Amino acid sequence: MPNVLVTGAQWGDEGKGKIVDHLAARADYSVRFGGGANAGHTLVVGGKKLVLHLVPAGILHPRCKGIVGNGCVIDPASFAKEISELSAAGIDVSPPRLGISEIAHVVTAFQKIADGITGKAIGTTGRGIGPAYTDKARRAGVRLVDVVRGEHLSVLETQRAHYAKLLPDDVELPSAKTVADDLSNVVSGLAAYIGDVAEEVHSAMKANAALLFEGAQGALLDVDHGTYPFVTSSTTTAGGASSGVGVYVDLHRRLAVSKAYTTRVGNGPFPTELLDETGEKLRALGHEFGATTGRPRRCGWLDLPALRHAFRLNGVTDMAITKLDVLAGFETIRVATEHRAGAPVYRDFEGFGSLDGVNDRDALPKAARSYLAFLEAELDASLSILSIGADRDRTLVFREILPA
Ligand code: IMP
Repeated sequence: MPNVLVTGAQWGDEGKGKIVDHLAARADYSVRFGGGANAGHTLVVGGKKLVLHLVPAGILHPRCKGIVGNGCVIDPASFAKEISELSAAGIDVSPPRLGISEIAHVVTAFQKIADGITGKAIGTTGRGIGPAYTDKARRAGVRLVDVVRGEHLSVLETQRAHYAKLLPDDVELPSAKTVADDLSNVVSGLAAYIGDVAEEVHSAMKANAALLFEGAQGALLDVDHGTYPFVTSSTTTAGGASSGVGVYVDLHRRLAVSKAYTTRVGNGPFPTELLDETGEKLRALGHEFGATTGRPRRCGWLDLPALRHAFRLNGVTDMAITKLDVLAGFETIRVATEHRAGAPVYRDFEGFGSLDGVNDRDALPKAARSYLAFLEAELDASLSILSIGADRDRTLVFREILPA
């Protein structure tokens, strides 16, 4: 059975959650290997909207178990809330269906407070992600196993002293004891989920299970290969899967997800950004507001050089294009084919009308087919999945990724 990577080819929010949800019907595991509650996967199931932040999107399917790997950073209170919301929606998230790595780092209250202040210049999600990874790298972090063993208070005291020095004097920090007790309370409620998930993933691979590796954010937010310093603090690309799970992962199929246009939340370069009414139209029609923070997303045309970079990083074999329906009704659709002196050079495509009722590739308007064929040729990857609406059934599959 193949190991399949589903990864974002842009600045996040490409619609990976919907694609994972689609593939998970044929998968045994859906594995998160990086990021934290900065991610927001919006799923629409039977007309009902669910937003997942850290729980793997595959879990909505009874066959598929969820794993949160050691490369993720976990805010236990937010995780517990997500679990109870899913249960309330009738989804079984009992411990055998979901596991969290015991060596994943915890996001602490100090890190969240710090991110709200120091993350402003980057435009972070304010979820404490950057400080949590920073503390992990400077060997001043708390892992879940430390909380389980009750060995986290002294680290939190050191963390508090660090942030008290770093942050302005008028910022109030809770006591280390309060933070430690709060963590102990929440983590004790999650105890049944916490363990050596690397071993479980390894055994599943040996037993020939079908595994999805669910990337968070997108290639252009990768800490090494994205638009640094306007990036997140983890590896968002294929290379992060093995270290973020704790098992060498041979990714047999690498599926990159891209919108039919581009969006970005937060600050940083965006060469094809549209600051005019066309950008506003994309935002309105595409409901482009952040799933985690509600911030309006910046909108623009597709950027081929940026996508080529993302495709090379991920060794892409298959692509999924999402939200093609949002482009219906635009007179002209533009794609940047290169950048000259920092400015995008565009190729224009004829627009197309409504995609309502379209159920296969041949039924797409001719102009839409030309646009997609151009992307396939330029990116040298097969368009395997096309999403033309928010609901589960508006997903067209041209090439199967997992066997039935
Ligand atoms: P952080 O990950 O919260 O530190 O934010 C760093 C940058 O990544 C900011 O520009 C965020 O808006 C962006 N970011 C983080 N997670 C996501 C996501 O899931 N979708 C889109 N942008 C994200």
